[in-house]
Amino acid sequence: MKLTTKLMAATAMVSATAVSAAELEVTHWWTSGGEAAAVAKFAEAFNATEHTWVDGAIAGSGGTARPIIISRILGGDPMAATQLNHGRQAEELIEAGLMLDLTDVAEAGGWKDIVNPSGLLDSCTLDGKIYCVPVNIHSWQWLWLSHDAFEAAGVPVPTNWDEFAAASDALEAAGKIPLAMGQQGWQQSGAFGVMAVAIAGQDAWLAVNADKNAEVAGGPEYAKVFEAAVSAREMAANSNVQDWNQATNLVITGQAGGQIMGDWAQGEFSVAESVAGEDYSCLPGLGVNEVLDTGGDAFYFPVNDDPEITAAQKELAALLISPEVQVSFNLAKGSLPVRGDIDLSAANDCMQKGLEILASGGILPSGTQTLSADTSTQIEDLMAQFWSSDMSAADAQAKYAEIIGNAD
Ligand code: GAL
Repeated sequence: MKLTTKLMAATAMVSATAVSAAELEVTHWWTSGGEAAAVAKFAEAFNATEHTWVDGAIAGSGGTARPIIISRILGGDPMAATQLNHGRQAEELIEAGLMLDLTDVAEAGGWKDIVNPSGLLDSCTLDGKIYCVPVNIHSWQWLWLSHDAFEAAGVPVPTNWDEFAAASDALEAAGKIPLAMGQQGWQQSGAFGVMAVAIAGQDAWLAVNADKNAEVAGGPEYAKVFEAAVSAREMAANSNVQDWNQATNLVITGQAGGQIMGDWAQGEFSVAESVAGEDYSCLPGLGVNEVLDTGGDAFYFPVNDDPEITAAQKELAALLISPEVQVSFNLAKGSLPVRGDIDLSAANDCMQKGLEILASGGILPSGTQTLSADTSTQIEDLMAQFWSSDMSAADAQAKYAEIIGNAD
């Protein structure tokens, strides 16, 4: 090659990579086996660009990670990108002007046309501007059941909550924990919400969680939910684990009959090579009310005054919602993609059920979309108290109705 041709080739290469390489620290609370496998898909895709993903995993649950994330942003030590649940968790940070406006990226990528359901994008929008990229739909509405545990108990795998509760004695007689439950308020509160949708029904759930109707919260439909919570508490009396994935592990290993947990549990089943429909079953809406809430995760990008970082942040935002990354990430995570125009034929039985419910429009907003972070925390605290004591259904309901009465 002549020198001039070499020079021309080198110049072309330089201009093709004109965007300078940036290192972006990305915080999240995805530290269980399944979660780590899923977030690695994001990191791989970003590292395949000229930029570098600097992993900022924070051990523990969202309840531990969120205050750390928020105080870093408020304290002037922001990461370049962070996971939060889409909904109201970042409301105050956005209002304070601390989050990058992604509207141009969203318009260039046609997010308004592709994000499904559209409520996910609404949850990222404030005063007409888009501040986050939704990456998945994670629903709380699932009961995960161990086939081994039910076989040992000599009872068929239940098809709904009542059958599950009725199998409790047989499971115990076989030395199994009927219901696996991690001893943390957010897990107990999530499970309570699932029981509410199944037992009180969607209208009552919406009246309480969207309209903040304290009368319904203190009324007869919710009284049944609190009674079911008392029996769930008894079923979980020997479940001494803390973390949600330890509770999922009790189901995977057949030590527990079931667990009410969001569909991120699927990541654990798949890392353990458990097969849906063979080793375990999943009942959306506790087999009573087949509906999914549209909770999930979104990435936010704190404002940075370095234009090169800002450019890389926007590239990452576009990448997270791109078709290929949506497929690889959501298959590993057990969540549903935020776009309907991609091929998920590789999804397992449980994810297929989820996709069908989503397609049929059986959706509800999630509590993180309807309740302020403060109200959610108060409910979690109440649930932690209720599950770790012998508080009666009536007392718990009265306290709950008071929180809803003051909710914003
Ligand atoms: C949720 C999050 C999920 C999952 C779960 C347990 O808040 O949306 O992605 O990771 O926490 O860590």
